[in-house]
Amino acid sequence: MQSSKKHLAVFASGGGSNFRAIYDATRGGLLQEAEVSLVISNNSKCGAIEFAKDKNIFAEHISSVKYNPEVKAEEKILQVLQENTIDLIVLAGYMKKLPDSVVEKYRGRIVNIHPALLPKHGGEGMYGLNIHKAVLAAGERESGATVHFVEGEYDTGAIIMQKRCEVLPTDTPESLQSRVKELEHTLYPKAIASIILSQKSH
Ligand code: GRF
Repeated sequence: MQSSKKHLAVFASGGGSNFRAIYDATRGGLLQEAEVSLVISNNSKCGAIEFAKDKNIFAEHISSVKYNPEVKAEEKILQVLQENTIDLIVLAGYMKKLPDSVVEKYRGRIVNIHPALLPKHGGEGMYGLNIHKAVLAAGERESGATVHFVEGEYDTGAIIMQKRCEVLPTDTPESLQSRVKELEHTLYPKAIASIILSQKSH
């Protein structure tokens, strides 16, 4: 029998701590009505891919180096999304821009998490410690994380949920990054659960 759970595709390029938090929430937490059916990464050696393998989750390494020219990578992404009947695409530290064709096809069903309070401190080049450096340089007294729908441009699209934290006078980019990341791990599953709930009522 086909599972009635919502199928999530997680796109990740790095350590995958958000992916782990989401996975944990599918196993008895807020996301019990969902499962991670697929992980896509442009980085075959990243922690997210390792974790997926460890948990027997289907993981696909798709990069323009492997698939050349880029258009083939784009086709491959669309193909695996379709084959795994994906309901929601979850970007969790994915360092590549999603191809326009994917954004078009899954519009309203793609979410991202950004470690700052958008619309501030987002856009091209705003990744990793750059974001937290910018927050500190701007003298912000608070920061946090934002979950938002994905549109064609970086860090645009309607905001779904945010969680705030204080910026301390003693903060370094690294300490702020780790405080924000902790928030992300509870915020992301909660935001995804709210989307699943709203998809159900439509
Ligand atoms: C997170 O800070 C997320 O907000 C950003 O990329 C980072 C990914 O971290 N988009 P991880 O791989 O989930 O630990």
